[in-house]
Amino acid sequence: MMAVPPAPHNPLTETPLFLRAAWGEDTSRAPIWVMRQAGRYLPEYLAVKARASFWEMVRTPELAAEVTLQPLRRFPLDAAILFSDIMTPLQAMGVRIEFNPGPLIAEPIRSLRHIEALRVPEPEEIAPFGEEAIRLVRRELEGKNIPLIGFGGAPLTLATYLIQGSGSKEYEAFRAFLRQEPAAAHTLLEKLTEVSIRYLQGQLRAGVQAIQLFDSWAGLLDEATYRAFALPYTTRVLEALAGWGAPRIYLAVGASHLYPAIAELPLEVVSVDWRPGLERIRPYFPQRTLQGNLDPAVLLAPPEVITQEAHRVLRAGLGGPHIFNLGHGILRQTPPEHLAHLIEVVHAFDRTPEQI
Ligand code: CP3
Repeated sequence: MMAVPPAPHNPLTETPLFLRAAWGEDTSRAPIWVMRQAGRYLPEYLAVKARASFWEMVRTPELAAEVTLQPLRRFPLDAAILFSDIMTPLQAMGVRIEFNPGPLIAEPIRSLRHIEALRVPEPEEIAPFGEEAIRLVRRELEGKNIPLIGFGGAPLTLATYLIQGSGSKEYEAFRAFLRQEPAAAHTLLEKLTEVSIRYLQGQLRAGVQAIQLFDSWAGLLDEATYRAFALPYTTRVLEALAGWGAPRIYLAVGASHLYPAIAELPLEVVSVDWRPGLERIRPYFPQRTLQGNLDPAVLLAPPEVITQEAHRVLRAGLGGPHIFNLGHGILRQTPPEHLAHLIEVVHAFDRTPEQI
């Protein structure tokens, strides 16, 4: 009997590197994407931005898809992330939001009456434009084998903006509200949990292949307060995203003191900000993937410094599955060629044990 020839190698039908690493495979190369990869450091983004406001870009599927794809045309990134914002679903709840440059809430939410007036929109009302953008991007990426990441804000971080009203260094009004009006805060967090679940399941139905939950302000809280006001709601959101075949990524910023609690969340990937070394975080997540965590400011330095610092992160990420990323969003002053250099360095780094 003749031996059956091996199936021809076809990279387009293989599971993409990013998804393999996200599901826990200790891959021989680290996949890389960067938070805010579609954004103001790219001249082609600024050209679109000159013609349309931020919300117009988000709400026009062709523009959102175009901006999502811009960084993929320029760089060999291992994943795309939908162009939108964590504040997007709040508009459907009846909240008016502008940016200057951070989110600005016209009427901060400070009373139970105001919280009760917030709508919990039907799933199809929340972001139909985003779902259309997802379908457009998936069509464009078909055959390229690059997965698309969807995202949302964790309930606590959305509540932080709604209650504080605008950017602030330490969000004192929010931290006070949790203690002055705990029942009202829980009512708000309940509503944000339900809307987030509907918003993120809508993205999954439309075709995103992974979800990242951003908890940008979790680090403001001590562990007991995080356990009371964040953990139960974030757990419910992540549980509702199980079983869709899409890995769940969670990023808490400035949250080194919270990792014992974060380790209880149902997730596949923990995204780490630039402060702690990955080797220090690994023991909390023995079965899971770490994502991160180069300081975005390193990309402002010359290429040889970028190489050296990226190697430090890559070495710290050995010993378990690792997705390379920045520790927070890419800065607007970043020269695009510095990101190109970073991607080359990450792709050239061999993670197999003989290299250690
Ligand atoms: O990563 C990507 O490329 C996808 C797009 C994306 C945006 N916002 C677009 C955006 C993502 C993933 C976000 C998430 C987001 N939005 C977070 C979580 C991440 C984090 O930074 O902690 C938060 C807290 C927000 C809220 C928000 N929206 C802020 C604080 C700002 C101002 C940021 C800044 O850099 O000035 C925005 C506006 C915003 N969202 C911009 C972009 C590209 C800038 C808009 C512009 O072009 O002026």
